[in-house]
Amino acid sequence: MEHSLEFLGCTIRNLSEDDFRKGFNELMTVLDTEAQLDEEGFIEYCSNIRKMPDEYMHIVAEETLSGRIVASASVMIERKYLRTGGKVGHLEDLIVNPSFRKQGLGKKILDILITRAREKGCYKVIISAVHDSSEYFEKNGFKKKGLNMKILLTQ
Ligand SMILES: CC(C)(COP(=O)(O)OP(=O)(O)OC[C@H]1O[C@@H](n2cnc3c(N)ncnc32)[C@H](O)[C@@H]1OP(=O)(O)O)[C@@H](O)C(=O)NCCC(=O)NCCS
Repeated sequence: MEHSLEFLGCTIRNLSEDDFRKGFNELMTVLDTEAQLDEEGFIEYCSNIRKMPDEYMHIVAEETLSGRIVASASVMIERKYLRTGGKVGHLEDLIVNPSFRKQGLGKKILDILITRAREKGCYKVIISAVHDSSEYFEKNGFKKKGLNMKILLTQ
């Protein structure tokens, strides 16, 4: 996103290198307690994202008073062969700090990323890792389609 915006005492903006020291990893432990980056890896991740503004968008919400990161999500844009080269947005890892839930922050972040995907020319946005939150996404306009499968390449 080009500009930040204020919502619920938070600034919603693009992920930045400083966020490692603002509790980004602590927030992400809700989704995955193990496989996280150290600070060097995090800085490289931010730098890579910045080089691909048309393919990748990762936004966070920073609580203005505390300077802590309280929400995060990303969208990666894929160009397909089918659909005459249509674009698909892959939504990943929407997470809101438990103290900030049920106040519309998740929906706000979702809306920003969906709008962004639309502006980039995507014809759909999909999310695969819904954990037990499929009902939440259904409430926000997503429809169930197909079945996710995976093969782990780390064993
Ligand atoms: C799912 C999540 C992002 C929602 O964030 P949020 O800021 O609380 O969401 P919103 O304020 O936009 O929406 C709140 C509403 O969604 C509902 N909701 C939240 N999680 C839900 C779930 N898993 N299933 C069904 N409904 C859910 C709330 O009950 C609330 O309903 P209400 O408006 O009728 O009171 C947050 O609960 C979260 O971080 N969960 C853990 C991580 C996760 O599962 N992420 C999604 C998959 S990657």
